[in-house]
Amino acid sequence: MTASIAFGVDIGGSGIKGAPVDLSTGELSAERVRIPTPKPSKPAAVAKVVAEVVDSFDLPKDVPVGITFPAIIVDGVARSAANVDDDWIGTDVEKLISKATGRQVFVCNDADAAGVAEAAFGAAKGVRGNVIVTTIGTGIGSAFINDGVLVPNTELGHLELDGHKAEHRIADSVREREDLSWERWAKRLSKYYQHVEFLFSPSLFVVGGGVSKKHAKWMPQVECETKMVPAALQNNAGIVGAAHLAAKHRS
Ligand code: BGC
Repeated sequence: MTASIAFGVDIGGSGIKGAPVDLSTGELSAERVRIPTPKPSKPAAVAKVVAEVVDSFDLPKDVPVGITFPAIIVDGVARSAANVDDDWIGTDVEKLISKATGRQVFVCNDADAAGVAEAAFGAAKGVRGNVIVTTIGTGIGSAFINDGVLVPNTELGHLELDGHKAEHRIADSVREREDLSWERWAKRLSKYYQHVEFLFSPSLFVVGGGVSKKHAKWMPQVECETKMVPAALQNNAGIVGAAHLAAKHRS
């Protein structure tokens, strides 16, 4: 039997957030705790803060704990570091955080967690075929879901666009830095999503990340064949998806 509560932690560039999640509804069962990400964000310092977040709650020892990390994660080990400290490459994140928290934790890519949350409880619930969830923030994350099942570590933010890494052209951080109008940014997004839809023939694009809250300003201007909707879980998608995956991993 799967647990009815699991704990999720979302490790981001500016904050480390955690909360218990009710796995039957995908809702947080207590208010989340957020502690700023240490600078520099070296592995030992981050692991310490994750332990602080987990210890802020009175959790039973056997509750599944899932953690998101913004890099490729294979068998608990970080295999890239696009927007995080290079020291993470090759780090067994699962081992490090299990030791720091005194609990066996499960670690996955941040966008994969958000995608799984959307498929289980949000905008991609019950959608058949290939669903591509992209998170637009400092970088671009992606989750590839086929008939509700995650194909992990797709890294579609690293596709090439206009001779650059796509995330270096269309991330929200780039929009802000280059002071792009919504129209100009949407043009770049159109090119990107048209390329992705040609490669994968998705039935749905779900777009998350902070800028998805302002979807009315730009989403109608993105030209592609595939239906595109904003993420439903917004800020908590990572926490919810990590908790959900940790419980599934355990069962
Ligand atoms: C990383 C991904 C991550 C995404 C969003 C990218 O730079 O390569 O692993 O999911 O940023 O944080």
